[in-house]
Amino acid sequence: MPANHRMQLLLSLLLLAISPPSWWQRRGALAVGVNWGTSSSHTLPPSVVVTELLKANGVARVKLFDADPSALASLVGSGIGVSIGVPNEMLRALSSSKSAAASWVHDNVMRYLPTAGGAVRIEFVAIGDEPFLLSYGQEFQPFVVGAATNVQRSLAAMDLANKIKVIVPCSSDIYQSESNLPSKNHFRPDLNKTMIELLSFLHEYGSPFVINMNPFASLQQNKNLSLGHFLFQTNSHPLTDGANKYKNYFDMSIDSLVSALSKVGYGEMDIIVGKIGWPTDGAMNATPAIAQRFMQGLMTHLQSKAGTPLRPKRPTRETYAFSLLDEDRRSIKSGNYERHWGIFTFDGQAKYTVDLGQGSKALVNAHDVEYLAQKWCVVNNNKDTSNISGSVSQACSNADCSALSAGGSCSGIGWPGNASYAFNSFFQLHDQSADSCDFGGLGLITTVDPSIDDCLYTVAVRTSHSISTSIHRGVEWSLWIHGRTLVSFFLLVWL
Ligand SMILES: *[C@@H]1O[C@H](CO)[C@@H](O)[C@H](O)[C@H]1NC(C)=O
Ligand SMILES: *[C@@H]1O[C@H](CO)[C@@H](O)[C@H](O)[C@H]1NC(C)=O
Ligand SMILES: *[C@@H]1O[C@H](CO)[C@@H](O)[C@H](O)[C@H]1NC(C)=O
Ligand SMILES: *[C@@H]1O[C@H](CO)[C@@H](O)[C@H](O)[C@H]1NC(C)=O
Repeated sequence: MPANHRMQLLLSLLLLAISPPSWWQRRGALAVGVNWGTSSSHTLPPSVVVTELLKANGVARVKLFDADPSALASLVGSGIGVSIGVPNEMLRALSSSKSAAASWVHDNVMRYLPTAGGAVRIEFVAIGDEPFLLSYGQEFQPFVVGAATNVQRSLAAMDLANKIKVIVPCSSDIYQSESNLPSKNHFRPDLNKTMIELLSFLHEYGSPFVINMNPFASLQQNKNLSLGHFLFQTNSHPLTDGANKYKNYFDMSIDSLVSALSKVGYGEMDIIVGKIGWPTDGAMNATPAIAQRFMQGLMTHLQSKAGTPLRPKRPTRETYAFSLLDEDRRSIKSGNYERHWGIFTFDGQAKYTVDLGQGSKALVNAHDVEYLAQKWCVVNNNKDTSNISGSVSQACSNADCSALSAGGSCSGIGWPGNASYAFNSFFQLHDQSADSCDFGGLGLITTVDPSIDDCLYTVAVRTSHSISTSIHRGVEWSLWIHGRTLVSFFLLVWL
């Protein structure tokens, strides 16, 4: 072999050595992942999320609600298992057209495969997000199994059916019971036919059943269960269901699902928890301290691999925490706490410590965050503020004021701090533009941080940054692919 070839081979092997970990490498002993949602006015750059939050904290799996190209580009070579999602709005189209499903798979799966140089370790394609939610009625229900079938066919046609599984994340209201007892649960009568079709589909293709849980909403609705029951407190009063005793809400929920599955002949189906978490603001009992007790209790329970009374020693196959980050554009229809599910704040700072794969160490925060200027908008006390309520409601109908609601971190600050909070929220939402702090002359821009105790007046993350970063990432990415191609090429020449 000529000397210059050997040199190039060496160079290529070097490139291979410094490239990110391979897609087949599995990390993290615990089958735990996180949901990464992006319903935020100012999102962190995907590269910061992947490198500084997911990788730095040993997170082995991530679930997306779509197939955002910039998120997937950032996940290239990370070794993290990824679940991508088809939004509910696309189900009808994918259900009615095989070619629409094939092109979705081509655009969102194929291009990220190792063979295409993408190297994103896609494990699941989620068909819709809670498409059977009771409040959706028949909007998506008729299209779910059809869309799943067409996506499955496209994956099989591309020889991917063994690597990538099709799943349907379901809300907990798909099953119900006339009592509190897990054994009495059954699927909602209006879903009987659809559920049988879905289960037969999942069974045929070896896909797990994905259930989303909302223990916090259950606590609010179910006055009979104590907080300790939700927080995995071992001394909490157990619920007796025949021969089985339930000491925590999690086991009750899993066994409720197992009961519903058993009644239609699918009691052995593998279960993945697609969403589970605890909010930290915007309602009573939504605090970082309680969220930590819940999340750590959950992780300890999963680590014990104890399973549930109906499935002893058979823990859920995977469990996805909800959520990675706070999202200020999430709908608050079901409560103001909806914007505070993050284990991390909107800007990537851990609210508490929980083992996501990093072990007993504290979680690592994002450190490369670029913020807007250290400026806030507050009420100008020198003005006549008698008419301010209109401005406050205008601010809050656009911006996020959920921390002001009863039980929230800013609920106790009173007047005029709460009006200032609303003004500032609106001001940051609009990237600190001067006219977004006008409010008919009642707003005032200040460089003095108005935060009081736990009530934080935020400064938004700079988002233009994400554009320059993704360009930068794109260059890195193509260099990396190039490096890989070179290696294969020179190995070929060498051999
Ligand atoms: C809650 O507890 C009360 C008293 O023990 C009981 O009468 C009621 O049926 C329970 N509610 C539910 C939903 O189980
Ligand atoms: C749904 O299934 C359950 C259990 O198999 C059955 O009791 C019920 O009558 C069914 N409901 C409908 C609407 O088919
Ligand atoms: C308050 O609003 C009312 C009605 O819009 C208006 O007539 C009044 O002049 C306003 N007062 C101040 C101080 O701006
Ligand atoms: C602000 O606090 C005052 C006094 O406690 C209260 O009357 C008002 O409703 C609060 N406004 C908001 C938007 O929270």
